Amino acid sequence: MSPIPRRILVTGGAGFIGIHTVQRLSADGFALLVIDDLRHGCGEPLPAGVDLETVDLTNPASASVVTRFRPHVILHLAAQGGVSRSVRDPAGDAMVNVVATVGLLRASVDADCRRFIFASSGGAIYGHAPHLPTPERTTPAPLSPYGAAKLAAEGYLGMFSRSFGLSTLALRYSNVYGPYQDGTGEAGVVAITCDRLLSGRPPEIRGDGQQTRDFVFVGDVADANVNALKSRAIGAINIGTGVATSVRTIVDELTMLAAYQGPPSFVEGRPGEVRDTALEIARAAKLLNWTARTPVRDGLAQTFRSFQERAGRAAAPATRGPAAAEAREGHGSRAGSE
Ligand SMILES: NC(=O)c1ccc[n+]([C@@H]2O[C@H](COP(=O)([O-])OP(=O)(O)OC[C@H]3O[C@@H](n4cnc5c(N)ncnc54)[C@H](O)[C@@H]3O)[C@@H](O)[C@H]2O)c1
Repeated sequence: MSPIPRRILVTGGAGFIGIHTVQRLSADGFALLVIDDLRHGCGEPLPAGVDLETVDLTNPASASVVTRFRPHVILHLAAQGGVSRSVRDPAGDAMVNVVATVGLLRASVDADCRRFIFASSGGAIYGHAPHLPTPERTTPAPLSPYGAAKLAAEGYLGMFSRSFGLSTLALRYSNVYGPYQDGTGEAGVVAITCDRLLSGRPPEIRGDGQQTRDFVFVGDVADANVNALKSRAIGAINIGTGVATSVRTIVDELTMLAAYQGPPSFVEGRPGEVRDTALEIARAAKLLNWTARTPVRDGLAQTFRSFQERAGRAAAPATRGPAAAEAREGHGSRAGSE
């Protein structure tokens, strides 16, 4: 580990992974500034003493925020995170996920920032990977504009490292789940299923549910972020568990936690969807001294409890089930496997 930096700029710090990371950094006494335009904030307040600049990173004026704060490290989490949205609007996705990232890299150099950590995606970058768990050396072959944008941004990180001496690291997260994730949009299967179950709707499974993903708990990801910004590791590092869990297993576990009494409903899978993903995690253990500690069953229990508390109602089995579900059907989102 290198000397511990003091001033940390977190972009997207009001989002799902951001808030968990900021809470941890704040508890550790770092001086923090969050840049987030709140287009997709998770709704949890930032810890006391953490400043927020509500600016859009696609606006070139956001660079002056970086120059004023002069961070030692930037943790760049802000992104357009919807894979389907990236398919509908690849240029809009690239504006946020590539162009704004390049602008931030440039601003980092201008502000004499030493280190830049970028939230990349192990789920989206590798495509149909030839090996599971997938190591970082695998040639990336993204299948979505979102994945292509993450890969392009990683290319810029490498260039800024070589040409400007900025220490850069891409953390390739697998499927992150946990408290405060948005369960209403195109979030992961865990958040969407929690939302559906807590509003009495049956869980919904895309495809046969036997597709597998590497589900990593957000608290563990926050730890990885903290270790990464204290480390000197460069390049790309997978952040996952190395374990493949089926969507059906996740849905069944949450259904049990909710004491929901009906079967899941099945809808058509996404065409071209990757069947199985799991990330090799040896590099994270070696370079970040990090491994995911939360077994998926514990993480799901914590997540469901948090969704339950947020919904402000007890998971009373008698009020749940297909009857209540029918009344609510029609305005839900689907449990995908991203
Ligand atoms: N959640 C996952 O499973 C997962 C997996 C792989 C990679 N990632 C990456 O991790 C990062 C964080 O993901 P998350 O799940 O917390 O997403 P999130 O949507 O909850 O958080 C992103 C935050 O960025 C902010 N933001 C978006 N565009 C902005 C802009 N132009 N200017 C300023 N702020 C902006 C949003 O308001 C939001 O608060 C993203 O880069 C995402 O691509 C997430």
